[in-house]
Amino acid sequence: MTTTVIKGGTIVTADLSYKADVKIEGGAIVQIGPNLSGDTVLDAAGCYVMPGGIDPHVHLEMPFMGTYSADDFESGTRAGLSGGTTMVVDFCLPGPDQSLLEALQMWDNKTSRATADYSFHMAITGWNERVFDEMKTVVQDRGINTFKHFMAYKGALMVNDDEMFASFQRCAELGALPMVHAENGDVVASMTAKLLAEGNDGPEAHAYSRPPEVEGEATNRAIMLADMAGVPLYVVHTSCEQAHEAIRRARQKGMRVYGEPLIQHLTLDESEYFNKDWDHAARRVMSPPFRNKQHQDSLWAGLQSGSLSVVATDHCAFTSEQKRFGVGNFAKIPNGTGGLEDRMPMLWTYGVATGRLTMNEFVAVTSTNIAKILNIYPKKGAVLVGADADLAVWDPKRSKTISAKTQQSSIDYNVFEGKEVTGLPRYTLTRGYVAIEENAVKTREGHGKFVHREPFTAVNKALSTWKELVAPRKVERTGIPATGV
Ligand code: URP
Ligand code: ZN
Ligand code: ZN
Ligand code: ZN
Repeated sequence: MTTTVIKGGTIVTADLSYKADVKIEGGAIVQIGPNLSGDTVLDAAGCYVMPGGIDPHVHLEMPFMGTYSADDFESGTRAGLSGGTTMVVDFCLPGPDQSLLEALQMWDNKTSRATADYSFHMAITGWNERVFDEMKTVVQDRGINTFKHFMAYKGALMVNDDEMFASFQRCAELGALPMVHAENGDVVASMTAKLLAEGNDGPEAHAYSRPPEVEGEATNRAIMLADMAGVPLYVVHTSCEQAHEAIRRARQKGMRVYGEPLIQHLTLDESEYFNKDWDHAARRVMSPPFRNKQHQDSLWAGLQSGSLSVVATDHCAFTSEQKRFGVGNFAKIPNGTGGLEDRMPMLWTYGVATGRLTMNEFVAVTSTNIAKILNIYPKKGAVLVGADADLAVWDPKRSKTISAKTQQSSIDYNVFEGKEVTGLPRYTLTRGYVAIEENAVKTREGHGKFVHREPFTAVNKALSTWKELVAPRKVERTGIPATGV
């Protein structure tokens, strides 16, 4: 078998940085050390050799709000690779009356052209005995150990508390991790109706309809329900201090609660919705919406201190034409923004280059932490012998101006348009294959494979009430009074 050596770089992991070469054979790392030789040599002088990024939150070719998100598994994974991301996790969303396994078949069918590895989270969009039974098959036979619950999108994807609590308990039994989109969907629906009735139909009203309190309330509620069910919790797209505060408090009590800010929320603010250009504002409509600087500072602080664990994108890209479904009614603007390609360069530029994050913290929040949370470490998220050779050879001096004209994503704009980024991959390798070499994109359709994930053993036993809740004790009483007196 032929070998590839990445030569002359500095390896940067979540734990440490050191100079060494990396030798790859058969898609995996086979040796790390000085003066290695191989059939192909990649020059990494002046570069950092890091685990490829893992974006745990993407929606590729997803049916949503009357249309499909515009990037598919080919363009989405190509966009990821071009920015140093070597694995994505998409959400399988069962439609009304569709079983989990039927939905999974649909999702499997979308992936034949994936250029990088991928996995799925399964969404619980309703609750019945079939869902209860199928969850076991999903975990034990299909290698999916995460279940997403939408607390918003009333009348579509939203589940109620009783359904969510039942599903959380099922996750606890199966060794699976529940995830939540934490916004109070009833309150959002009520505020949306009021805003529209008062004639507020522009994209800015989207932000008014989902204030931080809506997210804080739902995050607190989900954490309490998860604790009662005795299961850890992953909160997707944490965007505000209220939600972060709930996560921080839970973690201080010993609960395993993970928060996932998005690169968009870290770097773009609510002023985007007040742009006079309708298209500009609508292109930035996503849930939760962009927040103000105070919330952004809270998210950065959470990454620095470790109370927030992962930076994702929630890549759910819609074209300008699709966004225009919502002209005259902001509630019909398809919710979602892109970012897969820009997450790592933007986080490097606004995080590492500004001194907010160390390089090791950068690796932790873009790759290693989520690999551990998803139970795929050290196959993914590591530079270790035996790990998959999913690597970003990161050149901290390469720069570019982000532009829709040069991006891989198939939409016609970029929410980061005009931003200067310094820090880009010189090479991106997916299981040893060099898919990106400076500006040359050499991705291979069908190279990407499904990543199977085993169940967990971790449970939450943090609160003193836990034991009583799972093992209720009936009190034997004497002297029961007569009824109806
Ligand atoms: O606005 C968003 N976030 N769209 C994608 C679906 C979701 O809520 O994650
Ligand atoms: Zn398995
Ligand atoms: Zn969501
Ligand atoms: Zn999402």
